[in-house]
Parts: sequence; C-alpha cells; structure tokens
Amino acid sequence: MSEARKPRPKLTGEDSLPGDPSREELIARMIRVDQAGEYGAVRIYEGQLAVLGRTEAGQAIQGMADKEREHLQAFDRMIAERGVRPTALAPVWHVAGYALGAATALLGERAAMACTVAVEEVIDDHYAKQAEKLGEDETNLRGKIEEFRADELEHRDEALARGAEGAPAYEALTAAVKAGSRLAIWLSTRI
Ligand SMILES: [Fe+2]
Ligand SMILES: [Fe+2]
Repeated sequence: MSEARKPRPKLTGEDSLPGDPSREELIARMIRVDQAGEYGAVRIYEGQLAVLGRTEAGQAIQGMADKEREHLQAFDRMIAERGVRPTALAPVWHVAGYALGAATALLGERAAMACTVAVEEVIDDHYAKQAEKLGEDETNLRGKIEEFRADELEHRDEALARGAEGAPAYEALTAAVKAGSRLAIWLSTRI
C-alpha cells in the first residue's frame, strides 16, 4: 500500500518520548532558561564594564551589553505574556554573572574577551539545539532565538578579533567558563 505522504509541518516536541516534558512545559523551560541566560549575560558585561568601562575595549563591551539588554527584554516580555515562571536563581546570576565579568576583566582585556568567546560558544550551541526542537507552531520564538544566536556569534567574533586567544591560560580559562555556563543552563532550565 503506497500512500503519498503530504509533508506535514513539524510541531514542537513531536519527537518527545514518554516521560518527557509536555509541549507547554518544554517551551516554558526554554523561555525560563533563555531569560536567565540573557540576564546573566547582561551582568557579565556589567562586571566587565566596571573594570574596563573607560578603556577602548569598553566601547565594544558596551555595544555587547546593549544587545544583551535587548535580548533580555524580549524574553522578559515572553515570560509575562505566556505566564512562565521565571527562574528562582536570578539573585545567583546577578552576583555570579557580575563576578565572572569583573574577575576576567581584572585579568586583562584579552581574558575578558576569552570569557565572551566561551560564553557565546555555549549559547550558540544552546540556541541551535532549541531552534531545532521548535516546530511550525512556534515560528515566532524560533525566529527570535535564531536572531539572537546570530548576535551572540557576532560577539564571539568580535572578542576573537580583539585577541581573546592571547589571554593567559586561554584553554583553561575558556574550559572553566564553558563548564560554568553549561551548569548555569542546566540549573536555570529546572529551578
Ligand atoms: Fe544574548
Ligand atoms: Fe551575547
């Protein structure tokens, strides 16, 4: 029996398995973790600006911070519109993001840029995975995520152009920041 199959639009969460979160929960988790991540990003750049704000690199960092604020506002709106519970960890990211930004900036401009490379690479991967899970029922959200992902890649490229790889202990530093960022993502998805 051959049946001509019409291509059916892919729906969010359609490949989920028994025991996986429902479609609504899946989307709520995405918005929760993304809002938390953008909040953390704003705080990282604020920490960097506290140290490097008056330098030439400060201008570039200010540009990144402004973009992160736009990203955050978009997720703030979605949290309100869709009634998603925001992460309970905002006070943690308030402090941890700022501390990470300030500490790397105190190591020097290149270390601050290395921090940006590490964070943005993790976010790139995170947003790519999310976009892949979203179906034709969530084209708006998917569009935002893809737009922001392109911005994050610009930040990474700018940080590389500013000599991130010349930071002291670049490999160890970026590995540590990536591990921390992945842990923050894991926690903010759930808590
Ligand atoms: Fe962002
Ligand atoms: Fe970014």
